[in-house]
Amino acid sequence: ARLDRTFVLDDFEALAKRRLPGPIFDFYAGGADDEHTLALNRNAFRQVGWSPRVLAGGASPDASTLLLGRAVAMPVAVAPMGAVGYGCLDGDRAIARAAAQAGIPYILSTTATTTIEAIGEASAGAKWFQLYPLRQRDHMWRLLARALAAGFEALVVTVDVPVGGKRERDLRNDCAMPFRFTARNVAAFAARPRWALGMLRHGVPAMANLAGLDPAGARGSTLAPSVGAEFDPAFDWSGLAEIRRRWPGPLLVKGVLRPDDALRALRAGCDGLVVSNHGGRQLETGVPALAALAAVLRAVGDKAQVFLDGGVRRGADVAKARCLGAAGVLVGRPLLFGACVAGQAGAARVLDILHDELIRTMRLCGAANAAALTSELLWNAGIPAA
Ligand code: FNR
Repeated sequence: ARLDRTFVLDDFEALAKRRLPGPIFDFYAGGADDEHTLALNRNAFRQVGWSPRVLAGGASPDASTLLLGRAVAMPVAVAPMGAVGYGCLDGDRAIARAAAQAGIPYILSTTATTTIEAIGEASAGAKWFQLYPLRQRDHMWRLLARALAAGFEALVVTVDVPVGGKRERDLRNDCAMPFRFTARNVAAFAARPRWALGMLRHGVPAMANLAGLDPAGARGSTLAPSVGAEFDPAFDWSGLAEIRRRWPGPLLVKGVLRPDDALRALRAGCDGLVVSNHGGRQLETGVPALAALAAVLRAVGDKAQVFLDGGVRRGADVAKARCLGAAGVLVGRPLLFGACVAGQAGAARVLDILHDELIRTMRLCGAANAAALTSELLWNAGIPAA
């Protein structure tokens, strides 16, 4: 791919679509049910507009800030994503390195196709580990110990997957996690011979950090393709409190959309929250993160750093999230598509474009630094963005 001919994050989705087998692309791009929440996530950002301040942006705005006490180049982190290796064999490492190079945190998924240790070695940048509550608690505690030993600084516990969302593209495509070829899906893979050759040569990667779990659990299910039987559907606040007791570093909970849940997370000892509907992949017609943010912020005040994710595709989206009070945002699919298109260079290009857009927006709206991104710069900050 000609990276110098990519200009917006959406370019990478279009390029990835041409490169990936249909079922893999759909698994990445898709959402739950009618994909209404998937669309709402992006729309929410379009409904917030600027009231720009002139002659105030400075010659070169500074987007750097502190996330969980660490200096970062811009208020962005890589969203945790499983199964990246299905589309780009060494994709997790490629994205982790691009993030380190861009000076932003990288979050490794429990269901990543690369081990905790391999990411620890690949990147000296800020790394956080995302944990799915597992039925096999022993395995979960081992993951925490390994993440700590490998230099992961923070833990992100994802709480919005008691069961997989109804991903209808995956049902029709016969695409499940963990990956497998079936009589119904094999033709779609054969239609992308370059991809198929790579997988034949290297083998389809496994969910590396779930190795050693009960194989019945690792086989997956067509009815809940995104989640194996190893996830604990009965996980609750007491489970979160136990994780808090066992994890010494900063703890975030990801997938909270309500102020009362945000308060409970604080009471359980969390240091931060990710306001998220899982990129529209879980509960259909769930509120978009941007629309849920204000109430959550009113509840938690400055007692925790609040992040949001879902549909961030422009530097201006990052700036708007900051103006509405988020500490930062997570970006998912665009980085995954960047890696599928051109490995580390593709993911790096995505982050470059995002940073460039953010700086340009800061100049245009009159914010000399990240702290100057406040609700004063929005003309309709009071209107819920949904
Ligand atoms: C995800 N997401 C996710 N979240 C999580 O906590 N653990 C995970 O393993 C995964 N896996 C995953 C795989 C794929 C292919 C996608 C697209 C997403 C959700 C992710 O962290 C994030 O919440 C959303 O993707 C953010 O929305 P955008 O930026 O993709 O619109």
